[in-house]
Amino acid sequence: MQYKTDQEIQSENATLDIRGLSLDYIMQDQNIHAVVDLNLVARMGKITALVGESGSGKSTVALAVMGIQGKNAVVSSGEIYLGGTDILSMPKKDMRSYISNHASIIFQDPIDSLNPLLTVGEQLVEAILIHEKITKNQARTIALNQLLAVSLPQPEKLMKKYPFMLSGGMCQRVMIAIASVFHPPLLIADEPTTALDVTIQAQILHQLDSMRKRDGTAILLITHDLGVVAEIADDVCIMKDGHIVESGTVDDIFCNPQHTYTRQLLAAAL
Ligand SMILES: Nc1ncnc2c1ncn2[C@@H]1O[C@H](COP(=O)(O)OP(=O)(O)OP(=O)(O)O)[C@@H](O)[C@H]1O
Ligand SMILES: [Mg+2]
Repeated sequence: MQYKTDQEIQSENATLDIRGLSLDYIMQDQNIHAVVDLNLVARMGKITALVGESGSGKSTVALAVMGIQGKNAVVSSGEIYLGGTDILSMPKKDMRSYISNHASIIFQDPIDSLNPLLTVGEQLVEAILIHEKITKNQARTIALNQLLAVSLPQPEKLMKKYPFMLSGGMCQRVMIAIASVFHPPLLIADEPTTALDVTIQAQILHQLDSMRKRDGTAILLITHDLGVVAEIADDVCIMKDGHIVESGTVDDIFCNPQHTYTRQLLAAAL
């Protein structure tokens, strides 16, 4: 009988499987090693939290998975398997459309992420038509359902509104509606609730959790907030200075932390 390696076991059900990723930002006077030999797995139907102090490289990982890291970013090694295919080995022109069919991202500031010149309805319909060959009317019906699915009331009225007319929490729900419109296997949420009131934060996290349950989406949740992690995450990766210093299930990390830095983070959160 042939035994599987830990990596093979971990990779099963992996919607996202990052292996040995190193990424530098090339600057005039120096190179910044933003991500160093990083391994990370996000599993289908599970929430994986990526936690670490400011500047540790969390957003850089997210941008690399979406293929939208800046021009001065250079991947020096590693693979990013999304839906089983290494996006880094794809030709650039195929990579963009492959990623947009497999992953979505939402950011900290939902108002900045929406187009200020288009109504909510126009933006949702546009997002749907990118992925489906259907009529505008059919797309409108899907858009209305999407808004209901993220618990936004009066979707007919909302469709006609511009982003500046909405609260931050409503904008973030619209972003989730747009991001989940084609049921992407992976959703990355980069500090999705940091800019929102505490009560609204809980509602947004609930929406992400519903998406995971309903669509089996793998969610990579980037957050500073260990309270959020304890409440909602299945798996946790702790990041420091570009490295993952520790990863495991939420119980492993909270009940039996191995790394000094993880212990410090937990102590600071108490
Ligand atoms: N476009 C860029 N060019 C050069 N350096 C960058 C660029 N983007 C990020 N960096 C640097 O890379 C490192 C990692 O940044 P990153 O934004 O990924 O951290 P983060 O963990 O998301 O931080 P935060 O919690 O503040 O959002 C930092 O040292 C940052 O200054
Ligand atoms: Mg960040």
